[in-house]
Amino acid sequence: MKLSFAPIHLGSLVLFAVTPCIFAQNSPLPLSQSTTCGENCQESVQLAVAFEQDSHAHTPLDDFYSIPASFKPSMKPGTLLRVEAHTNLTNYTVPAGLTMSRIMYTSQSLNGTIVPASAYVLWPYAPFEYTDKCYSNHKRGSKSQGKFPLVAWAHGTSGQFVHCAPSNYRSLQYHFMVPYNIALEGFAVVAPDYAGLGVTTRPNGEASHTWGASPAGANDVAYAIDAVRKAFPEYLAADGPFVAMGHSQGGSVIWAFAERQATAPQAGYRGTVSISPPTRVVDILNIALAKIASIPAAMLPAWALVTLSIQPKLIAAITTVYPSFNYSGMTPTSYDRWNNVVKPLQGCLPIEGLAFDILPSEIAKPNWTSHSSVVEWGNRVAVGGKKFKGPMLAIVGENDVVPVEVIEQDVDASCKVSKGQSLEMITYQRSEHFPVIQVSRMKWMGWIKERISGNDASGDCVKVGICGKKSVVKAFNSNYTLHSIPPNWLVQWVPTPKEMWKLSL
Ligand SMILES: *[C@@H]1O[C@H](CO)[C@@H](O)[C@H](O)[C@H]1NC(C)=O
Ligand SMILES: *[C@@H]1O[C@H](CO)[C@@H](O)[C@H](O)[C@H]1NC(C)=O
Ligand SMILES: *[C@@H]1O[C@H](CO)[C@@H](O)[C@H](O)[C@H]1NC(C)=O
Ligand SMILES: *[C@@H]1O[C@H](CO)[C@@H](O)[C@H](O)[C@H]1NC(C)=O
Ligand SMILES: *[C@@H]1O[C@H](CO)[C@@H](O)[C@H](O)[C@H]1NC(C)=O
Ligand SMILES: *[C@@H]1O[C@H](CO)[C@@H](O)[C@H](O)[C@H]1NC(C)=O
Repeated sequence: MKLSFAPIHLGSLVLFAVTPCIFAQNSPLPLSQSTTCGENCQESVQLAVAFEQDSHAHTPLDDFYSIPASFKPSMKPGTLLRVEAHTNLTNYTVPAGLTMSRIMYTSQSLNGTIVPASAYVLWPYAPFEYTDKCYSNHKRGSKSQGKFPLVAWAHGTSGQFVHCAPSNYRSLQYHFMVPYNIALEGFAVVAPDYAGLGVTTRPNGEASHTWGASPAGANDVAYAIDAVRKAFPEYLAADGPFVAMGHSQGGSVIWAFAERQATAPQAGYRGTVSISPPTRVVDILNIALAKIASIPAAMLPAWALVTLSIQPKLIAAITTVYPSFNYSGMTPTSYDRWNNVVKPLQGCLPIEGLAFDILPSEIAKPNWTSHSSVVEWGNRVAVGGKKFKGPMLAIVGENDVVPVEVIEQDVDASCKVSKGQSLEMITYQRSEHFPVIQVSRMKWMGWIKERISGNDASGDCVKVGICGKKSVVKAFNSNYTLHSIPPNWLVQWVPTPKEMWKLSL
């Protein structure tokens, strides 16, 4: 086992890498259990460990995330457990003028248990000013009132372990892609970490985040809204207007949130923006597996290959909800990498990426998705085809990792059962999973402002719109734009393809 290695050579680049002190938390190095992660694997995983620690605001997590003694599983969901009014921004990249708070509150898991959860809040320099057509005196947002309109933001996959909470990322994980931009336009942003990230109820290192369980994520969003209104009544009206928005994992979470609004409405709800949602993750995986079995590799769509790589995460996530499933879809190699490398390091996406340098045949056992727990989980977490409350805007890239046809089917199925609701879908030509957030920004930012101001097409308070409308936005000069698939090229440059993992979230 190696505690330090310097320098290592990656192409022409010399990296002076980690020193033992960064492992002080979990010394001795906890990878000795692994039977399959050899020297190369261990070295690259250590690079990712150093990189992740650098990306996190606090290593280990600061005291904010410890569960207060007052917490009881019998509490009502939406109870405020802790408020940090002014987060010290020294360790964050939050842009000038914005400030941050953190809250802890109770949410509800997929199984209905009450769990503690954390969220960050971004505060603008000054509120977006608007006249609210849906509010009797039309004066909301005026300077004198001083209250902020709200956007609830549901992040995409950051990892499955406690350190992967976006509120513990220097850049809050989605940085200028979404939350910074929204706050810079004058909206308060409340962004749940999702239960199990940040705050954990399983201090033994087992994941408590139920990744992919969209209805549970929707609870985390809904109760974060209740909690932040209780925490800051002087800045957020209890019935103030808000829009919900999410991307990727969060795109499905926020779709589930729109479905939740149909049965558990919240005051001030003005609509949902869902970007690149993997609406039915088990179905999408099964479609990918069927394509891989029947089409030559060179003709496979990129999304199908990406989907293959999520299998270990998915198996681990199903195990958090169905412990008796016990990772049974994993191959011995995959089981070893997850349980003896990623878990002891409590790794997030960069560590996962480098820990799984394995052959496609070693990722998962054939036919694992037909297990009854997988089928049941898949049905419980799927979104689309259910009653929802709109208006809703669904956005996808033509070359997204989520197949456009699946989202089209879910839009149609949702409209069929939701009479009188509005749901519009826009596909962005030649765009991808993360770039689509930027290319569609002029649409969603305008949409949010219109919904907050209560405008529909006729300039009145939002009324019933069209359901199932689909359109394509054509790209100008798209042969010359940079459609970088990993998101962090916006804030960081890596000189070699070998380091592309650094650009993942
Ligand atoms: C910033 O991070 C460093 C290193 O993890 C830590 O020692 C320090 O307490 C943090 N500062 C604040 C203000 O949180
Ligand atoms: C934030 O923490 C730093 C270092 O711990 C400290 O010097 C600074 O005064 C703090 N800032 C505020 C606004 O409290
Ligand atoms: C969650 O619910 C499922 C289905 O009822 C059950 O099989 C499982 O054991 C529960 N999981 C936990 C962690 O309680
Ligand atoms: C889960 O699977 C592992 C590896 O196959 C095995 O060692 C362990 O005993 C199993 N745990 C349970 C609770 O079944
Ligand atoms: C997959 O599993 C299902 C249910 O257990 C079974 O009916 C089917 O024959 C299996 N398919 C293959 C290819 O093994
Ligand atoms: C863009 O690139 C594609 C494929 O490389 C090519 O077929 C197409 O003609 C190009 N379009 C323009 C407008 O240059």
